[in-house]
Amino acid sequence: MFKLVYDETNVPDKAPNYDNIDKETVEPVKRIAVLTSGGDAPGMNAAIRSIVRTGINSGFEVFGITRGYHGLWKGEISQITTRDVSEKLQRGGTFLMTARSKTMMELEGQIKAARMLEVYGIDALVVIGGDGSYKGARALARLGVPVIGIPGTIDNDIASTEYTIGYDTSMNTAMEAIDKLRDTASSHERCSVIEVMGRHAGYIALNVAIATGAECLLIPEVPYDFDRDVIRTILDGRNKGKRHYIVIVAEGAGNATEIAEKIEAATGIEARPTILGHLQRGGSPTLRDRTMATLMSAHAIDCIKEKRFNRLVVLQNGKITDVDIEEGLAMKKTISQEEIDKFNLLS
Ligand code: F6P
Repeated sequence: MFKLVYDETNVPDKAPNYDNIDKETVEPVKRIAVLTSGGDAPGMNAAIRSIVRTGINSGFEVFGITRGYHGLWKGEISQITTRDVSEKLQRGGTFLMTARSKTMMELEGQIKAARMLEVYGIDALVVIGGDGSYKGARALARLGVPVIGIPGTIDNDIASTEYTIGYDTSMNTAMEAIDKLRDTASSHERCSVIEVMGRHAGYIALNVAIATGAECLLIPEVPYDFDRDVIRTILDGRNKGKRHYIVIVAEGAGNATEIAEKIEAATGIEARPTILGHLQRGGSPTLRDRTMATLMSAHAIDCIKEKRFNRLVVLQNGKITDVDIEEGLAMKKTISQEEIDKFNLLS
């Protein structure tokens, strides 16, 4: 069982790095718990299933916490069996449910969460979620709770990893929707302005724009000149004989309705906005999301077996590995300028 930092006025500013700790001095792990937190993502169920099955088959008792950190505060913790996770692999959403939690940003909420894990005798906690959820996990690690993070968000905006669970499914969902919008835009010689998710990141937008042959791409990472990058691109296309126009806008870069109005006013071409919204968060996970979720979670169990806690599971150079939670959260992610340049050559 872990030892909590009880002096609340003196919580360390770094989580312990177990690579520097003699493993003989670390108590054996018997019970582990898993939760999903933040926005759900297709593949989270596959990840939970893998944690449960590889965990139990490695000799651990596995507990599921419902409703993320909210459920943890309330003690919504119960043991899960391998049978409980059958028929979950192919399902979207998260059967453990999830929640966004501001209280986990405050010490009071963090201590409450750590104490509840202590009450249940949990030796290590697996958190499946995005950056916000990881910050909660880091806070618990600083309080002494051994944690492992698995990247689950459709946005692919976690700096330490090249891939986050749910990204592929959400992009495929967006791509299929945009292909359909293109059909009707073409029939009516319209401009279709499609807003995709991604919070402050443009990864979904960039890839979807490449995959759907969009004319314009607006993402938060790259400043744009509306007249040059949108209006002129559309008019140049019309002058070359184009019959329809697809504009992809990442939610962090603008609003589809306002952009469509501006395009119609400036070009005289009818423009229709579509906000894909939460559609992109649901659905059965693709093969990539199922396999990444399963293998990343199995790697998380390897870390626990090796008593290498306070790690984030990551994909780096195409290989599943792990990084220290403090180092991982300090990293910054940049979008590929090379891919943006290639996209710009295509329209
Ligand atoms: O982080 C995933 C995400 O879907 C973002 O792309 C989006 O900005 C946000 O969550 C929406 O959050 P909510 O479901 O709380 O409205």
